[in-house]
Amino acid sequence: MKFPVLTAAAAGLASAASLPSSFQELEADVASVAARAVANYIQRDLPNAPDGYTPTNVTCPSPRPTIREANALSTNETDWLEIRRNVTLAPMKDLLTRLNLTGFDTTSYIDAHSSNISNIPNIAIAASGGGYRALTNGAGGLKAFDSRVTNTTNAGQLGGLLQSATYVAGLSGGSWLVGSMFVNNFSSIAELQASNKVWNFDKSLLEGPDYDDIQIVSTVEYWKDITEQVAGKADAGFNTSFTDYWGRALSYQLVNSSDEDGGPSYTWSSIALMDDFKAGAYPMPLVVADGRNPNEYIITDNATVYEVNPWEFGSFDPTVYAFAPLQYLGSRFVNGTVADNASCVRGFDNAGFIMGSSSTLFNEFLLDINTTSIPTILKEALTDILDDLGERNDDIAIYSPNPFYDYRDSSETYATTKDLNVVDGGEDGENIPLQPLIQPERAVDVIFAIDSSADTDYYWPNGTSLVATYERSLDRTGIANGTAFPAIPDQNTFVNLGLNSRPSFFGCDPKNISGKAPLVIYLPNSPYTYDSNFSTFTLTYTDEERDSVITNGWNVVTRGNGTVDENFPQCVACAILQRSTYRTNTSLPTICTTCFTDYCWNGTLNSTDPREYNPSILIASSGALKTVADYSVVVLASVLALFWAL
Ligand SMILES: *[C@@H]1O[C@H](CO)[C@@H](O)[C@H](O)[C@H]1NC(C)=O
Ligand SMILES: *[C@@H]1O[C@H](CO)[C@@H](O)[C@H](O)[C@H]1NC(C)=O
Ligand SMILES: *[C@@H]1O[C@H](CO)[C@@H](O)[C@H](O)[C@H]1NC(C)=O
Ligand SMILES: *[C@@H]1O[C@H](CO)[C@@H](O)[C@H](O)[C@H]1NC(C)=O
Ligand SMILES: *[C@@H]1O[C@H](CO)[C@@H](O)[C@H](O)[C@H]1NC(C)=O
Ligand SMILES: *[C@@H]1O[C@H](CO)[C@@H](O)[C@H](O)[C@H]1NC(C)=O
Ligand SMILES: *[C@@H]1O[C@H](CO)[C@@H](O)[C@H](O)[C@H]1NC(C)=O
Ligand SMILES: *[C@@H]1O[C@H](CO)[C@@H](O)[C@H](O)[C@H]1NC(C)=O
Ligand SMILES: *[C@@H]1O[C@H](CO)[C@@H](O)[C@H](O)[C@H]1NC(C)=O
Ligand SMILES: *[C@@H]1O[C@H](CO)[C@@H](O)[C@H](O)[C@H]1NC(C)=O
Ligand SMILES: *[C@@H]1O[C@H](CO)[C@@H](O)[C@H](O)[C@H]1NC(C)=O
Ligand SMILES: *[C@@H]1O[C@H](CO)[C@@H](O)[C@H](O)[C@H]1NC(C)=O
Repeated sequence: MKFPVLTAAAAGLASAASLPSSFQELEADVASVAARAVANYIQRDLPNAPDGYTPTNVTCPSPRPTIREANALSTNETDWLEIRRNVTLAPMKDLLTRLNLTGFDTTSYIDAHSSNISNIPNIAIAASGGGYRALTNGAGGLKAFDSRVTNTTNAGQLGGLLQSATYVAGLSGGSWLVGSMFVNNFSSIAELQASNKVWNFDKSLLEGPDYDDIQIVSTVEYWKDITEQVAGKADAGFNTSFTDYWGRALSYQLVNSSDEDGGPSYTWSSIALMDDFKAGAYPMPLVVADGRNPNEYIITDNATVYEVNPWEFGSFDPTVYAFAPLQYLGSRFVNGTVADNASCVRGFDNAGFIMGSSSTLFNEFLLDINTTSIPTILKEALTDILDDLGERNDDIAIYSPNPFYDYRDSSETYATTKDLNVVDGGEDGENIPLQPLIQPERAVDVIFAIDSSADTDYYWPNGTSLVATYERSLDRTGIANGTAFPAIPDQNTFVNLGLNSRPSFFGCDPKNISGKAPLVIYLPNSPYTYDSNFSTFTLTYTDEERDSVITNGWNVVTRGNGTVDENFPQCVACAILQRSTYRTNTSLPTICTTCFTDYCWNGTLNSTDPREYNPSILIASSGALKTVADYSVVVLASVLALFWAL
């Protein structure tokens, strides 16, 4: 242990007046929280891991699990799609009716084409990374799209979009959002906000949870539990890293477990076993992470992009081009099979570990550290810790044994390493999880892409993520491997034309795209009613701040419930129907021409250097005061210091 480093971090901690400086004080703090109302009960997925967080040998099922080539969707997915796509018809008709498209009978249109489901709009939603800012801003979108939430089915609202969607993808902070919803049995955002078991972001990961009921977990107990859980995995012979602790800590905030232990037995694959999911009652969740070869520091645009869906972990990229059965991750696959005399393993795909894998942004912290205003002494301390993590190759999620070991007689590093290293899905610059949604096999028509990235100096998005996805798609014979994406302008154009300060559509005319690509509805975080540009380093939010960002996110995706542009709901309808009507050779009404003129990027460039991008609030502010100063970075420093010491 490098004690001077820890001491420096602790000194920083103590100097932040409002933060307690010792575990004892932290504990007292937590204990002083009065017992409040009886717990809200939110249902969860199945805690079906055989031995909590510890992956465990089990008898292999028959047929034995195998790795498959990524040349198609899994039969699990195609079987599920047959059910789900049909279930989306009724909510889609309701939604389109409410969107009130002048001069177009949407119900007759859907009815006329429902016998061939591939002609029906295929909708996806994507929530970007960006820490708690992304979780809360994305939550505003998912809340506004959810017909179960009060007021979403009023005029000018978009409720029912979630019920009409086939896919919902999340990355990093967005994966915390998607995980919170799907691992807790498709809880609505309103339920998560009201819960006293999850989403209590006023306590940092360092302190542990603050459940509003009688049983209060002390900080010491919290860390004891986490270290024991991770030690259990290590003792069973599995390589662990920083990400195991990270994923465990996140779970205490995101997974509602009646034992108040961060749900160590909840697996991602159990989502596929939920009755409602099997019945197609809600969309399919997808989580994105990147691959990083050993000793690589910076992730290039051509990093392998992994997806985790309810059945599988793998990649459509030519580097890996394979999928492993999620439930049996951790089994020793060699060239696609588990040897006859070997056991299979279950319980590796812990839900928190999956969300943690998508959000190992530690080396991004390292690169960004000097852009923050934290004291130099802390900067040095943090740099030290993070450097050390990097050197130990510990700032990654380890998928070991590598399921793709020796698979596909290939010279790729992925086939030759015993460990597969997985990092934050945004490290290749693609901070919106679009790769799984632009795979031609999935035939998605329209993506609602919520961007909560902190691209600019004031932590607003400027299109960087879309640019990265577009550039990747141009490598047609290489990493793009059959995917296509609409043309996207440079970031200066985004800022100069205001494409990042209001919803913008890309790829409205399919004739302009080489290959088949969805229409992208870009929904960039911007201040409608609240300055939602918290730093990614901010790790604590009061409930008021959390809820104000969520409401702002709602206003972003609805354009202030249609008050900024009363045509907007109709424009959403036009975008939903564009690809479908193109296939069925049906004309859209004239309002759609107006909409596409207003919202589609038309190819104009303005690449001159823009002025500083510092937008002000669009609609009168009613949100909570932002109390979070940069000292929250100090909390981060301490979390890292603590992790590092473990
Ligand atoms: C996925 O499909 C495989 C092959 O058909 C099957 O063995 C497996 O049980 C399915 N998984 C789930 C969770 O339904
Ligand atoms: C589609 O859904 C309708 C109503 O929900 C049901 O009656 C019908 O059998 C379903 N069709 C298929 C092919 O599943
Ligand atoms: C739908 O649009 C028409 C105009 O085309 C308008 O008269 C009507 O009030 C709208 N209905 C709703 C529910 O907004
Ligand atoms: C629903 O909308 C009404 C009218 O705008 C408002 O008074 C009420 O507070 C809203 N309810 C919620 C839960 O947002
Ligand atoms: C990605 O790009 C880098 C730099 O151009 C190159 O060295 C590397 O081989 C590429 N990796 C893949 C998987 O294409
Ligand atoms: C994608 O990559 C795989 C593996 O290299 C290759 O077999 C396949 O043909 C590629 N697909 C397309 C559409 O290029
Ligand atoms: C699990 O099985 C493997 C062989 O497949 C064996 O090497 C390992 O020791 C077993 N682990 C435990 C904890 O029994
Ligand atoms: C950030 O600043 C510190 C202190 O000046 C320095 O030691 C460190 O190398 C810098 N880090 C980066 C990534 O530039
Ligand atoms: C993997 O198995 C396939 C077919 O079973 C075989 O053609 C290939 O050579 C094997 N690859 C390696 C690396 O052993
Ligand atoms: C956009 O964001 C990128 C990534 O942070 C940054 O390098 C670039 O300077 C930004 N450009 C504008 C115009 O905001
Ligand atoms: C939009 O409606 C939601 C839900 O009723 C509400 O919370 C929000 O404040 C409204 N936005 C505006 C700009 O009125
Ligand atoms: C394209 O968009 C730009 C800026 O958004 C606008 O000034 C221009 O008139 C548009 N061009 C056409 C042909 O509509």
